[in-house]
Amino acid sequence: SRVLVLNGPNLGRLGRRQPEIYGSTTHAELADLCVAWGAELGLDVEVRQTNHEGVMVDWLNEAADDGCAVVLNAAAWTHYSYAIYDACAQLTGPLVEVHISEPKQRPEVFRHTSVITPHAVQVVAGLGIDGYRVALGVVAERG
Ligand code: DQA
Repeated sequence: SRVLVLNGPNLGRLGRRQPEIYGSTTHAELADLCVAWGAELGLDVEVRQTNHEGVMVDWLNEAADDGCAVVLNAAAWTHYSYAIYDACAQLTGPLVEVHISEPKQRPEVFRHTSVITPHAVQVVAGLGIDGYRVALGVVAERG
């Protein structure tokens, strides 16, 4: 079954952006890993990244129309975007929220809230890039 892995703002710079927090794997490498991990689980994975909130809303609307599963790292939008909140609310396939770091353990208080969690079947955070593999595993278990 089809899974969209959607990554939000600044995640296109993975590998170069604050590697002490987000690691050294690039977004292109992450995308290849997600496709390979998905294939092992029998999932047809497509990975996308955008810095533009409206583009992300469009992709979530597409996922709602398709009824497909979504693995979402909404990055900073996680903490304040009601447009992303509303887009997630209408999904019919499972939604898994992923974060590379553990936002709740970070010093900025704004990171301690998530507008995604109310709609997610599971939150995977603090596992680095491997969190995407765990999230795809959650999707696979749900069928
Ligand atoms: C993040 C955590 C967010 O707080 C942050 O804004 C990001 C990445 C993560 O994957 O750890 O951009 O979602």
